[in-house]
Amino acid sequence: MQNLTDVVAAREEAARLLGTTSDRWHHVVGVAAAARAVASIVPPDDVDLLVAAAWLHDIGYAPEIATTGFHPLDGARHLRALGAPARLCTLVAHHSAAVVEARVRHMRGVLLAEFPPEESIVADALTFADMTTSPTGLSVTVEDRLAEVLDRYPPDDPVHRAIYVPSSRRGLSRVIWYGRLSIWHGSVFPMTTATHRVVASPEVEGCCPVGGDCELLPAAEAQVLAEVFKVLADPTRVRLLRYLAESEAGTVCSCHLPALLGVGQPTLSFHMGKLHDAGLVSRERRGRWVHWAVRPDALTPVKAFLNVLDNATTTGC
Ligand SMILES: [Fe+2]
Repeated sequence: MQNLTDVVAAREEAARLLGTTSDRWHHVVGVAAAARAVASIVPPDDVDLLVAAAWLHDIGYAPEIATTGFHPLDGARHLRALGAPARLCTLVAHHSAAVVEARVRHMRGVLLAEFPPEESIVADALTFADMTTSPTGLSVTVEDRLAEVLDRYPPDDPVHRAIYVPSSRRGLSRVIWYGRLSIWHGSVFPMTTATHRVVASPEVEGCCPVGGDCELLPAAEAQVLAEVFKVLADPTRVRLLRYLAESEAGTVCSCHLPALLGVGQPTLSFHMGKLHDAGLVSRERRGRWVHWAVRPDALTPVKAFLNVLDNATTTGC
């Protein structure tokens, strides 16, 4: 297994995925150089982590691993599959305030559930390096970088919307995020006062328009979640699911369950059928009896949903 916090290994993996002739590669080379330039502000033990993350931050664009089309998530998932350390995966998943774009793409819950963010000078340094490097690897100001991105992506593109369109009454646009970054670390990140003026602009601090869909969960996803919650809105099924989840063997024979719950076999079959139809449990027939197990990924959408609630901010219009 590669040690991807080794800077050379990180560079090689990025080169393998992105090629070394594209603009993307030149951008990545520039971001790695920018990360090195500010590396003195992070703890010495984190320098290689920062520079490795800079090499790897855009690998999610590589067609070989671009499964969702949201490059921070695709890149982080690829690194996780390679066994990379959690901090490296998280830095890639959240570089340059990816969570803001994730919300526009309705993927914020998934991103936060899979890769809890790291608030650190390392994460900020990575964002700084990315946001001060042009698409071709030149050193630029944050304002010029944002202007270029707005110009490159059409107004309805999630990347454009994440930067410029007020993202929600509870959230932050990327512009505000980057501005806060410069305010927090103004003494170490040489950003210009123009960034601060952007932060103060009322244009980017407005609320989601009435009737707008910038924060609404898609109806289809809401329907899926509602069905799961409906099935779980029964104490017997909640107890069954918890019992299966805690089973040391990983599966439970239906022969044990009626006596345990004080119900008959038909009642048990009814409840297990509901859990099974909702995709929460799997079943396997062994001779006369059915054995039940919780499906490991069954509650991923619910976990992501609860994570969104858990991470809700309290600021508002
Ligand atoms: Fe980048």
